[in-house]
Amino acid sequence: MRVSTSGTTDKKKGSGSNDIFEKCRNFTRPSDLQSAGLYMYFEVFGDRDGCGPGEVRMGKRKVLMFGSNDYLDLITHPKVKEAAAQAIRKYGSGCSGSRLLNGTLDVHIQLESQLAAFVHKEAAIIFGTGFQANYAALSALTEKGDVMICDHNLHASLVEGALRSSARTMRFRHNDLDHFERCLENCPPEDKILIVSEGVFSMEGDIADLRGTIKLAKPYGARIYVDEAHGIGVLGPTGAGAAEHLGVLDDVDIVMGTFSKSLASVGGFIAGERAVVDYLKHTARPFVFSASLPAASVAAVGAALEIMRKEPQRRQHLLHVACLLREELRARGFDVLPGETAIVPVVIQEEMDLCRLCKRLLEEGIYINPVLRPAAAQNLLRISCTAAHTEAHVERLIATLERVSSELGIPR
Ligand SMILES: Cc1ncc(COP(=O)(O)O)c(C=O)c1O
Repeated sequence: MRVSTSGTTDKKKGSGSNDIFEKCRNFTRPSDLQSAGLYMYFEVFGDRDGCGPGEVRMGKRKVLMFGSNDYLDLITHPKVKEAAAQAIRKYGSGCSGSRLLNGTLDVHIQLESQLAAFVHKEAAIIFGTGFQANYAALSALTEKGDVMICDHNLHASLVEGALRSSARTMRFRHNDLDHFERCLENCPPEDKILIVSEGVFSMEGDIADLRGTIKLAKPYGARIYVDEAHGIGVLGPTGAGAAEHLGVLDDVDIVMGTFSKSLASVGGFIAGERAVVDYLKHTARPFVFSASLPAASVAAVGAALEIMRKEPQRRQHLLHVACLLREELRARGFDVLPGETAIVPVVIQEEMDLCRLCKRLLEEGIYINPVLRPAAAQNLLRISCTAAHTEAHVERLIATLERVSSELGIPR
């Protein structure tokens, strides 16, 4: 910085290498991919009018969607849409305030009770997004002197929550109970411990060994926090997630869920002991200092929960389709990660191969999400199945994938 003779600073805004925006202009990764015709992000989808099950609109085309987390195919369900529309008519389009002050509606309280009962907990608290729920809960519940023991493959929202907390964080290798046990053993007896895991891991689609985790953790007095973003609606006799599927729901102290996947809306929740929920309601900053969820989003979740309860066949069909896809891909030599959920990830070693593959699949009318390192440990073609998919959709996907990957010379 130069100082002029008059003593005032003489720093020209936006010029030279001291510009804070310099890094943005030098960030050329997206434009490099665009120039190579391989940029896969921010694809634009249109309305769903005239689209069949499993289809979305892209410009004038209809595309088969294998990248959505709308696992139970409820986003366009007439009852979900009507519940949201009715709520807008009754409550308006937003709340214009924090839950703590003027932003609590009766529908928030009703949904919190429903969610708590759904995951067998005393109480629940709703957040604006699932990301906020994780970030808020981990950062509010832990403090200096506490320890968080986390699976290595946690979602960014959990990682950010852990980073924001002043607790010590230990990470164990993904789903590795021996490593997990060593972390527990390394905690001094006076430490208060929170174990953090996902029920179904978001990228790899595998299920956490919650039974083993709980068995090892309980003698240490550790509390268990499970993110069921990808488990709810998909696993368990009532669709409550991986913990219910494994028969350990009552041993999990905190269940986190999102509304942006099986529950066909937007938002998230934390459920647990009433004292914990009350504490979060008064101390979790992303809850206290942010406006509450609009009634339409809340009402959509209520309707989705009701359909989920009444129509378990959606979940069964979804799992059947995912299982069929997994088996057929394996039979054709694709490197599919093991699992039994709606997420079917295929390992594609080379980043460029993965981008080219996704681009070509889209030209063929099939959308699938590419997941590039470091978002996952390996580059993945992350196929996600929904209850809208049919066996014919699976056949079309497999035939296209086989042909396109051979044409592109992608090794299996
Ligand atoms: C495991 C996991 N947790 C939390 C979230 C965040 O959820 P939301 O989309 O509601 O912010 C996601 C979303 O992708 C997720 O996969």
